Amino acid sequence: MNLDLHIITKELCKNFTLNSNNQNVLKNINFQSNRGEFVSVIGRSGSGKTTLLKLLAGLLNLSSGSILINNNTPESARNNKELGFISQNPALLPWYNVFENINVALKINRKTNQIYDDEKIKDILRFIKLEGIENYYPYQISGGMKQRVAIARSIIYNPDLLIMDEPLSALDEITREEIRYEILGLHEKYNPTIIFSTHNILESVMLSDRVLVLSGKSKNFIEDITIDLPRPRSSSLEDSLKVSNYVNRLKKTIYHDR
Ligand SMILES: Nc1ncnc2c1ncn2[C@@H]1O[C@H](COP(=O)(O)OP(=O)(O)O)[C@@H](O)[C@H]1O
Ligand SMILES: [Mg+2]
Repeated sequence: MNLDLHIITKELCKNFTLNSNNQNVLKNINFQSNRGEFVSVIGRSGSGKTTLLKLLAGLLNLSSGSILINNNTPESARNNKELGFISQNPALLPWYNVFENINVALKINRKTNQIYDDEKIKDILRFIKLEGIENYYPYQISGGMKQRVAIARSIIYNPDLLIMDEPLSALDEITREEIRYEILGLHEKYNPTIIFSTHNILESVMLSDRVLVLSGKSKNFIEDITIDLPRPRSSSLEDSLKVSNYVNRLKKTIYHDR
């Protein structure tokens, strides 16, 4: 067995029943990801990205097939704090300030043998540019800052898997680009496996080792591209020919998926 394999899905299917209509959203997905890999899932709205990521995070039950994370179920990975889930909505606790919102992840962490100190929180705050606003309350900070808090909160307990469902989609373009490269830096520093969904093609290319295109038509991946770009990466790569070739190829695939 390959010890580097972190996530394995076999014939994963998901159906939703709504008003006695049975809708098939994901069909026979066989997916594998290695430890430390940054994988983006792109696809049109409604193609099933959120559903897939929630299944991987143990937040939804599958209809058939299987998912293994670290050779175990997603639920147990979640209970053991081996994974963090970040969505578009940062969902901070309004009665806690920034520092407390991040620290709360440690307080409710059941992995009690890990001891964290304020130094580690400070290091992450510095990294994700939250320094100086530790005492602010959620209503006092911008959407970008809130999402930074949500990201910091999820990495503070060192999960080896981060599942990020369009974490930057609700943000303005400039903030989005800033946080994009902070996530890239966090991945380079801590090297968790990251499953990241987005509908921004350039973003998926810049961040990922692999980009998968999910099709709402076939309910499965219709493309799996390895992004062969050196790391560490910076925004200056965005203008390179290699990047625009990847972007164009992915655009074509998505445009034809109607
Ligand atoms: N809880 C649910 N009940 C019924 N249908 C759902 C539910 N969640 C998602 N769907 C349907 O599943 C499909 C995929 O949704 P979703 O995973 O949110 O796609 P994406 O994230 O790619 O936009 C959509 O047609 C959506 O309406
Ligand atoms: Mg979604």
